[in-house]
Amino acid sequence: MHRLELGYLVLEVPDPDALVPAFADVVGLVPGEPAPSGAATWRNDRRAQRIVVQRGDAGGTGDAVAVGVEAVGPEAFEDTVARLRAAGHDVREDPELAEARRVGRLARTAAPWGTAVEVVLDPVDAPTPFSSPLVPGGFLTDGVGFGHVVFATTAFDESVSFLTDGLGFAQSDWLETELAPGLPLEVRFFHCNARHHTIALARAPFDLPQVLHHVMVEVNDRDDVGAAFDRLWATDLGIPNGLGRHDNDGMFSFYLQTPAGFQVEVGHGARVITEGWDDNRAYDAVSAWGHQPLRPA
Ligand SMILES: [Fe+2]
Repeated sequence: MHRLELGYLVLEVPDPDALVPAFADVVGLVPGEPAPSGAATWRNDRRAQRIVVQRGDAGGTGDAVAVGVEAVGPEAFEDTVARLRAAGHDVREDPELAEARRVGRLARTAAPWGTAVEVVLDPVDAPTPFSSPLVPGGFLTDGVGFGHVVFATTAFDESVSFLTDGLGFAQSDWLETELAPGLPLEVRFFHCNARHHTIALARAPFDLPQVLHHVMVEVNDRDDVGAAFDRLWATDLGIPNGLGRHDNDGMFSFYLQTPAGFQVEVGHGARVITEGWDDNRAYDAVSAWGHQPLRPA
């Protein structure tokens, strides 16, 4: 079951420095060495880079431009590339880009939701051990990748097939509700290892300027969620959702709004996908409790 993990996320924003207060001062991510391209990088574990922030105007205020999906070994890499090709996707191996992403091998294709997907092998570790003074318990990444990402797209059905038929992800469960009367929300959650979802897809009612809704990092210690929330409270960053617990994955979390438009979720204690997962069912509420909108951006 466990052959892939979320390796990294590449963001393009007009002002990479504008993310520092959210990433460093609230979430407790640690800056890595700049990428060979000069892009800023962020770590949440021993790896050299988990979030890469390059300068650009994707989505106007900023957006994700690529997702790195790490294969756990050479066989998983070859199988995933072959599977994508068999599903009709154009996949190109790119040694030059592999170097820029600090991985051994990289094969790139375009996902229907609008970012590139890079299947990668052998990402390098940073030269220094990981430690985040703000997150003493560290982040949960071992065997489950660095977190999860959620994209909103009008190309919803194509994106679902890309994830399942192409990448080989499996659906964990889904959410069908109304954000407001007459405003339906459908989100499908997909796993590729024990993490409840590595990628989730929301059906967008119309083309949105930004496809990345949020990126989530999970901390090992529940108190580190609360401490991060206190740090957020002391800033003037937007708080689209205060502390709460999601109904489907059970994650205890909050969301902060970055100046680039997308959100960051900091969470702890999500359900874990087990072998023979048989709880793929519909939920009609985003949260069991909490997650109230607290502060506009
Ligand atoms: Fe999330």
